[in-house]
Amino acid sequence: MKKIAVFTSGGDSPGMNACVRAVVRTAIFKGLEVYGIYRGYEGMIDGDIKRLQSHSVSNIVQRGGTVLKSARSMEFKTPEGRKKAYDNLKAHGIEGLVAIGGDGTFTGAKIFFEEYGIPTIGCPGTIDNDLYGTDYTIGFDTAVNTALEAIDKIRDTAAAHDRIFFIEVMGRDAGFIAVESGIGGGAEFVMVPETKTDLNDVVKSLKNNRKNRFSSIVVVAEGDEAGNAQTVMEIVKNKVNDPTKDFKVTTLGHIQRGGNPTARDRVLASRCGMSAVEGLLAGHQFHMAGVVNQQVVFTPFVDCIGMNKPLIADHLKLMKILSI
Ligand code: F6P
Repeated sequence: MKKIAVFTSGGDSPGMNACVRAVVRTAIFKGLEVYGIYRGYEGMIDGDIKRLQSHSVSNIVQRGGTVLKSARSMEFKTPEGRKKAYDNLKAHGIEGLVAIGGDGTFTGAKIFFEEYGIPTIGCPGTIDNDLYGTDYTIGFDTAVNTALEAIDKIRDTAAAHDRIFFIEVMGRDAGFIAVESGIGGGAEFVMVPETKTDLNDVVKSLKNNRKNRFSSIVVVAEGDEAGNAQTVMEIVKNKVNDPTKDFKVTTLGHIQRGGNPTARDRVLASRCGMSAVEGLLAGHQFHMAGVVNQQVVFTPFVDCIGMNKPLIADHLKLMKILSI
């Protein structure tokens, strides 16, 4: 293998740049030509592909977002779109790919590999932490810390006014961000899609808290089946039915996707990026490079996506015990 390309796809996550940098520099270190594909699969279809040098990735390890830009491509879901993408890769002589993204990215990579056989290694880039084959995904730690900082600030004003806040965090169908920011932020209750919440339990918990505490924080994962934070707040408020209690909602939204990556995310991203190139050279073909128990492991795409990665059981227990 002489020429490889790297791209970022789907929702960006802090640390993607550190991963791109590691891919580019490892490839050059190993004597390969390396190309950047801009805007993910969209750029692959449009031929937005440029050669990268070591200096192309200078001064990006600390930056959020992705210098290669990202997109969610509808055209790549069609056989015609994938054919155009393949023709462009072939025209550049690209023999291997590194795909940095989440489950949508790897679903596309799996189909593309099955059709055209270009070896592709994935790096887990998503704030949601919802991929098997890695303990943590690139960007998760930063997103949790961003959510935590926001929760700390909301706690100040909640306490000052004796208010009950419902804070909605991202995570799509996964509750990892909610649980870790809830534990770290000392939330009174956390609602996650992985477990069904009886809203009467939330009411009970808020009433208990009111005995010795006048403000409360409930963290709601955006994918919770009870609805978004606004809906949940309204139901709980009706059930509490106490006009002296003041309820508020804050949706943290895309602030969780930006910002400088934490040290943990930069190191994880660098490690996955380096391993992806090594994996390609070692003959892996449709695997994700992740870190499990401190070791780099290669897991077939099909085993990384589409399953519900369980939350850490201890974390749910911790939440329950610490919020009494
Ligand atoms: O997958 C990352 C993520 O931020 C999810 O947590 C969220 O549900 C989704 O992407 C938002 O996507 P978009 O930025 O396209 O609105």
